[in-house]
Amino acid sequence: MIIAVDGPAASGKGTLARRMAAELGLAYLDTGKIYRAVGYRVLAEDGDPADPEAALAAARTLDVSQLSDPALAGDDAAEAASKVAAIPAVRDALMAFQRDFAASPPGAVLDGRDIGTVVCPDADVKLFVTADVETRAERRHKELLDRGEPSIYARVLQALADRDSRDRSRSTAPMKAADDAIIVDTTTMDADAAFNTAINIVRSRTG
Ligand code: C5P
Repeated sequence: MIIAVDGPAASGKGTLARRMAAELGLAYLDTGKIYRAVGYRVLAEDGDPADPEAALAAARTLDVSQLSDPALAGDDAAEAASKVAAIPAVRDALMAFQRDFAASPPGAVLDGRDIGTVVCPDADVKLFVTADVETRAERRHKELLDRGEPSIYARVLQALADRDSRDRSRSTAPMKAADDAIIVDTTTMDADAAFNTAINIVRSRTG
C-alpha cells in the first residue's frame, strides 16, 4: 500500500504521515528532507541553491546519511530546499530514490508536495493536508519558541507565504492537490483530530 500525503509547509502533514505509517505498519519517507539536504549542502559549500549546476551536483551525490542532519530542520535549509526544488533536473535526479522507497514492501507513507501528482500517481490513497497560512505560521512560531529558538511571528508568516508561493508557482511539479486527493483542512483540528480524520479516510478507501 502507498499513501501520498501532500500539502504546504507546517500544515501538520509530517506528524500525520509519520503517525499513519506507524499505525499501518508502513515505512515512512519525509521527501522534504531530501530537498532540504540538497539545499543545505549547496549552502554549506558557499554555493547558491538557485544555481542549477551546484544544486544538481549536490542532488546527484546525495547520501542517505545526510538526511539525519539536525540542521535540516532549520529555516535556512527550508528556503534553500524550495530553491533547489524548482530546478527540474534536481527533481529528476531525486525521483528514483523516492519511487524505489515507495515500491519496497510492505509499502510506505510519503509526504511532500508532488507525491500524489508526480512521484506516486497510482498511490492507493492521496491526502492533501492544509490549513490557513496564519494558523500554520502560529504553529511554527510556537514550535520555535518551545525549542528555545528566537522567533518573530510576522517573519515566520512571511517566510511560509514566500515558500508556499514558490512551491505553487514553479513550472515543474508545483504543489497542488491531485484530482483524486482528499483535502484535509487542519485549521481547526489538533494533531489527534487530524490523525483520526486521516486514518478514517484511509480505512474507508482501503477496507
Ligand atoms: O516538507 P518540507 O517543508 O520539509 O519541504 C521543504 C521544501 O522542499 C518545500 O518547500 C518544497 O520546495 C520542497 N519539496 C518539494 N517536493 C517534495 C517535498 C519537498 O518540492 N515532494
